[in-house]
Amino acid sequence: MTIQDKAFALLAANRRTTDGHTYTVPSPDAYPYQWLWDSCFHAIVLAKSEPEAAMNELRALVSRQLPDGMIPHIIYWVQGDVHRYDWGIDGTSALTQPPMLAYAVWEMYKKTNDEAFLAELYPALLRYYEYLISKRDPRDHHLVGIINPDESGEDNSPRFDRVLHVPEDISQKDHLARRLELVDANRTCNFDAESCMNKHFWVKDVPFNAILVENLRALARIAERLDEKGGEHFASLNADLVTEAMRERLFTDGVFWSTAGFDYEPLRVATWAHFAPLFAGLYSPEEARALVDTQLLNEDTFWAPHGVRTVSRHERSYRPDGFWRGSVWMAPHWFIYRGLMRYGFTEEAKHISERSVALLESAGFREYFDPETGEGYGAHNFTWGALVTDMMDA
Ligand code: GLC
Repeated sequence: MTIQDKAFALLAANRRTTDGHTYTVPSPDAYPYQWLWDSCFHAIVLAKSEPEAAMNELRALVSRQLPDGMIPHIIYWVQGDVHRYDWGIDGTSALTQPPMLAYAVWEMYKKTNDEAFLAELYPALLRYYEYLISKRDPRDHHLVGIINPDESGEDNSPRFDRVLHVPEDISQKDHLARRLELVDANRTCNFDAESCMNKHFWVKDVPFNAILVENLRALARIAERLDEKGGEHFASLNADLVTEAMRERLFTDGVFWSTAGFDYEPLRVATWAHFAPLFAGLYSPEEARALVDTQLLNEDTFWAPHGVRTVSRHERSYRPDGFWRGSVWMAPHWFIYRGLMRYGFTEEAKHISERSVALLESAGFREYFDPETGEGYGAHNFTWGALVTDMMDA
């Protein structure tokens, strides 16, 4: 079996139907529910080969959209005691995740030409991005804030240590307890983003905003195709505004840094977040070349024998076996791959694709991997490995 065949077989094996909703669980043992950005990855991978399954997965996601437009980061379709935490709203969550939804819907359209599907999902998409732009940016500075590290999708990343007041050698268990404490704190302000961000945790995160830009562009294309002039204007205008604001407030010394709080305190921990803006074309070609040469391909910082470290080896928080604290994850590999392809860095993209395939072949479809040894860690039968099927055009 090729790695592609294994990836598609895994997605089929992890597919579930509950109450008429079909979705794919990221890992049957560790994560037996539906997650927002995971489902977008699944849809991107399945868009061509199994469009019905992919469309149903996205339909399931938007079926739990909240009245204010937010799409929750988890939907607990089934009862279970594994990984079942109270994220503030019964059955779902008061948090979101990197907004990959419009991109996934546009990928579906590119592969299927199914305009009816665009029209079906469009109202939910528009409401979701309107929510992010209006509620997560109370000062109209054109940068969207996250209210908990889990919203970045990189739950334990040391980017957030300073804001959480946790030490760099914190255990995974203590880290989770701290994030759940934050949920309790945000409960006291009713998850109203503006007051919660002011009081407890307000990070303008680089990958989240870069992903937002590329998704707003996808939303603009969707709206244009549907002849929705107002939505098209909203999406393309905000894509430009967020792009400019990232440059103005998050860009220093040749790279983008996440910032915290009212005063944009820079969170100077070097992580793969430096590379995420490549995905949205936010570096000039010269800046991108310099970034790739001095950081991405630098063996002392990010470039490791088995892939790209999610945290630079220079950081005191770097742990090759740590959950988002340096280990290799397939979603960042995919974002970096797509970013490199966008700039025409085909050789470098190919290296990432080859290293991703090699990891899956030696360690299996694990959740994360040791950059130095290639050992697999965390969940088994984890679906993110299927993203390699979308890293084959270099
Ligand atoms: C972990 C990851 C998160 C992902 C979830 C389900 O919590 O950090 O990004 O969505 O697992 O796979």
